[in-house]
Formats: sequence, structure tokens, C-alpha cells
Amino acid sequence: MATVAAETWEQVPLAPPDSIFKLTAAYKADTFPQKINLGVGAYRDDDSKPWVLPVVRKASEILLHDPDLDHEYLPITGLPDFTSAAAKLILGGQSAALAEGRVVSVQTISGTGANHLGALFLSRYYRFNGEKKVYLSDPTWVNHFAIFRNVGVNPVTYPYYDPKTIGLDYAGFTKALEDAPERSVFLLHSCAHNPTGVDPTQEQWKAICEIVIRKKHYAFFDTAYQGFASGDLDRDGWAVRYFASKGVPMLVCQSFAKNAGLYGERVGALHLISPTKEAKDRVGSQMSVLQRSEISNPPSYGARVVSLILNRPELFEEWKGDIKTMSGRIIEMRKELHRLLTEELKTPGNWDHIVKQIGMFSFTGINEGQSKALVEKAHVYLTPNGRISMAGLNTKNVRYFAEALDKAVRGSL
Ligand code: LMR
Repeated sequence: MATVAAETWEQVPLAPPDSIFKLTAAYKADTFPQKINLGVGAYRDDDSKPWVLPVVRKASEILLHDPDLDHEYLPITGLPDFTSAAAKLILGGQSAALAEGRVVSVQTISGTGANHLGALFLSRYYRFNGEKKVYLSDPTWVNHFAIFRNVGVNPVTYPYYDPKTIGLDYAGFTKALEDAPERSVFLLHSCAHNPTGVDPTQEQWKAICEIVIRKKHYAFFDTAYQGFASGDLDRDGWAVRYFASKGVPMLVCQSFAKNAGLYGERVGALHLISPTKEAKDRVGSQMSVLQRSEISNPPSYGARVVSLILNRPELFEEWKGDIKTMSGRIIEMRKELHRLLTEELKTPGNWDHIVKQIGMFSFTGINEGQSKALVEKAHVYLTPNGRISMAGLNTKNVRYFAEALDKAVRGSL
């Protein structure tokens, strides 16, 4: 019998389901044999199956047979061997900030946790110029909005994507950097922009960095695809390392979900660069306090796996090969989709962006009605903004998808 007063939760409105994960649920429930899931950004092999990286299997075996392993708490800021190797991975072996001991590194609940902890720290301690605000690219990963709002930082957008060229709105982006009040916080996707797959060139990054420095802005980097984008860890880490080498005030959110295929283990880190070692100690002490109240200590398993991979040279080499397997397959799918659309099907429009974009996602440029038709009529699951996860395509389903996309574009689906 119900004893709770009827009005107890009356004021709680019903929320819509998550725009990305609801697609996974709908895909699973669909019995159509040729269904395709291009929604969530999760790698699949050529048989549409999740892929456990061989190097991850190896590292797991090592852990399984380690007689000294226990289940004690990790330190509040995480597994030290993991956080220090993760910092070196993204900031590079030549990092002055690392050599000078100016980087606070905290293990987080994957990239989302890093974004949250970074946002929380800024909300508490950053000297905002007026209102607590963060500039997000338009568009961005949809969760960024909720993450900042949750900690009282108001998200506003800066121009990023130009629908006319299906490329970067460089003029709009740089104008927003110029026009924003000094010391504004800009969230930057360091490589393989989610959802567009459109990145600035290195020359453009240099010019962006110059404005960021001149305007004393704060760079909040989100890095979820290092190595996964180009197959080269150094190339994908270039923007972060360049900004750090120029002394930009910044932090980096890092995830190992995609590049190590460890989605469920939630392995990530937050790296905050301070101007001095003394400032780093103060920042680190407060990070610890925040982390303690939020999660006490991060989970150990995934961090141990990644720590082995990053710290054992033979495993590290093997990982680089696994990363090339994943990024290579995605690049092949981009080429094949492009070939089918342009050469075979002669689909109206220009499709060169499919091969120019980088990483897990492609912004196809199709509109909401066409995306909806693909979901409802062709059983191809994608977000309404026309983003597709390239990892969902393979040699067996790319033709079905290209034909469905062709029909959607022609309005004949
Ligand atoms: C995505 O954008 O699909 C992924 O990053 C998964 C997620 O958490 O949204």
C-alpha cells in the first residue's frame, strides 16, 4: 500500500530519454535484419561486434595472475602510475610543465568525469570575468551543456561549424574569441571534434592560440580520441601540446574509452597546468577535496589495465598497432562511403567532407527530416543532427547505408 504522500514528487517533471543512448536501446529492440546503429560513438569491428583490444586482453591476463594485487582503495587522486603516464601521453615527453612539476593530474570517471571535475573546479575557483560562463562550440557533444549547468556555469556557444561548407567556420570562431571578454573560458575539442569530425588545421590552431593568449582566455580541452583519429598519438595530441608549450592557462580532460576500447571501465584523467609548482600544490589539494566529496576514490581496474599498457614498452607498442587497426578501418569506411555516394550512386551534393572529416564521427550535412526518415524507414539509427558514428559502418553494411542515404537525400525513402 502506498504510504508516500501523493504530492511528494509532484514537482518533478518527466525528462526525455538521453538523445544518444535512446538510439542504442531502439536499435537493440529492432528486429529488422539490416538495421545499423550509427548513434553512439563506440567502435565496432567489421562484423558489427564490440572489439576487445588484444593488448587489453593481455594486460587483463597479467592483472589476473598478479598474486600481489588486492582490492584496497586507490589514493583519492587515483593510481599514481596511471595518472603520471596519462599526463605524459597527452602532454608529451618534452613537456616543460611536467618537467617543472606544474601539472595536477587526477584520475576521473572517464572523460565525462574529467569534464565534470574540471567544470566544478573552475566554478569554485576560477576568477570569472563577471558571470560564470563557458563558451562551447556550436555544435558540441550534447552532454557538455548539462555538465556545466550542473555546477552553475552557464553554457553559451561560439560559431564552429559552417553548414554551407560542411566545414569549419574559422572566421566566426576567431571573431568569437576576439569578442569575448578577457579571461573567458573556451571549451576546445583537441582532435576529432564531436559531433562534426571537423578540426582546425595546425595553422588555424596557431592563430587561435595567439588570440587565446592575447585575450587571456582559459582553454578547457576535451580529448577523447587521441590516437583514434589519425592513428598517431603524437599527431592527435598536437594542439594540446602546442597550447601548453605557449604557456596558455589550461586544463585537459582525457578519456581512454575510445582509444583503449574501455567504455565500461570509465578510465580517464583531468590534467590542470598551473603557472608554478607552488600553485600546483594548492590546486592539487583542492582537487583532492572535491574528488573526496564526489567519489572518494576512483575505480582501480581500468586504470591498472591502462597503466600497464602505458608503462610497459612492449604493450605500448602493441597498443599503437591496435589503435591503427581501429582508425584504419574507420578511414577505409570513409573512403568506401564516399566512393559509393559519388561514383556509384551519384548522390546529389558534394560529399568530400566524408573523407576530409576525422575521427569517430561524420556530420553528413543531412537535415533533421532526412535523419528521421533514415531511422524510421531504413532502420538506420543516427542522431537528428545528421551525425553518424563511422565505426558503425563495415564492409557488409556500408552499401545498404549509402543506398538509404541516397534515397533520403533524393526524398524517395
Ligand atoms: C558519443 O558522443 O556518442 C559518445 O561520446 C558517447 C557518449 O557518452 O555520448
